[in-house]
Formats: sequence, C-alpha cells, structure tokens
Amino acid sequence: MVSVNLRKGPVRLAPSILSADFSCLAKEVQEVEAGGADWLHLDVMDGAFVPNITFGVPVVAAVRAHTRLPLDVHLMIERPELYVADFCRAGADLITVHVETAPHLHRLVTQIKGAGAAVGVALNPATPLSTVAEILPDIDLLLIMTVNPGFGGQSFIPSGLDKLRRAAELLARKAPGVLLEVDGGITEDNARQVVQAGAEVLVAGSAVFGQPERKAALTRLRQAIEA
Ligand code: DX5
Ligand code: ZN
Repeated sequence: MVSVNLRKGPVRLAPSILSADFSCLAKEVQEVEAGGADWLHLDVMDGAFVPNITFGVPVVAAVRAHTRLPLDVHLMIERPELYVADFCRAGADLITVHVETAPHLHRLVTQIKGAGAAVGVALNPATPLSTVAEILPDIDLLLIMTVNPGFGGQSFIPSGLDKLRRAAELLARKAPGVLLEVDGGITEDNARQVVQAGAEVLVAGSAVFGQPERKAALTRLRQAIEA
C-alpha cells in the first residue's frame, strides 16, 4: 500500500538527510518532522553510478523506525532492479530511479509498483526530457536534477530552471497527475523561482540539515516560496 499522498496540492519540502549528522539520525529526522517537513529524502549512492557512497537498506529501515514522514528514496545506483524490493521492505514509500541506470525502465517501474511503492524517475542535468516521454503515464513523480548527482552542497545549475518549465508543460499535456520534484542546490534564494517554474516537491539538503536551526530553515524556505 502506497502511504504517501501524491495528490497535487501545496508545495512539499523534502529535507535530504545527506546533510544531517549521521551519528544521531533519529534526533535529526525528528527535528525536521517537528519543524514542518512534508517528506524525508534519502540519497542512496553506490560509488559506481555516482562518485560517492552513502548508505543502503539498513539505514532506510532505521530511519523508518523513527519517523512517520513519507520516505522519498532516491536511488543513485547501478542495477537498481536488484535492490528495489529490499528498499520497499525497509519502508520506502516512494522510490526514484535514474533513467540513466535503466535500459528496461518500464519493467523497473512495474517492479517498483508491484513491490508496493510509488515510483519516481530522475533525470541528470544533461539527460533530455524526451527520454521519459513514453513512461510518464506510468509514474507518480518526475525528478529533475539541478546538480550532477553525488554530493550535497553544490550550486544550482541555472539551465535547470528552463528544464523545469519544459517538464511542467510536458506533464500538463501528457501526465497531469505526475508530481514534479527538483533536487540540487535549492536555497531560500531560488526556491520561489523553481516553484514558479513548476516544481511541486523541493528537495533541500544543505538548506535544511546544513543549518543550525532546522525549523527556522524550513520556515524560511516556506516563506520564500509564498513571498
Ligand atoms: C545530490 C542529492 C541531493 C542532495 C541535495 O546527488 O541527490 O538530494 O542531498 O543536497 P543540496 O540540497 O545541498 O544540494
Ligand atoms: Zn537526492
């Protein structure tokens, strides 16, 4: 059973634990939950698809035990089909896979749904929107990367704004129920711009967990969006 609300609505904020203090993850996660986060974003990296290694299934399960927030699991790994069932069992509500890692994307999307999670598909900055045109009716979320995946704290790639606009137009035409998520370099200074471009879920690592006061950071992001 998918336990994440995928309906269109107010913009969701999804803090990425990549910038959290891993030595006290339960406390970190509870702080953003109390501070008004909508989803929690978990960046899984394998050191192969991206040049960094983060964490895997056991950490997702550990986080699941300490929060009621929907878990938005972003897989930056090769051969994702080998692991999606385990991530679902660990408590992922939504699993996002990269189109660049999946020659048989339709099969993978079907597999994730069958395992009981909602499905997102992510595009690297240099990957054209046309690569997802055929799969849009089958997915729940489209993730536009506005940094090259691998690390937190990188700067927003400016061409991402136009890509978001074009993605929003494409979704409006071909798959109006699909949520548009943006990930990479989101700050108080560009949050409003990405929302105006069509983003509906904002991932924020350093702009939330990188700040001393997480509740205040979430409030500032929310105010920036609504300003
Ligand atoms: C990058 C990850 C992001 C990262 C974002 O590969 O997918 O989710 O945590 O971090 P910031 O918000 O600091 O760019
Ligand atoms: Zn991410």
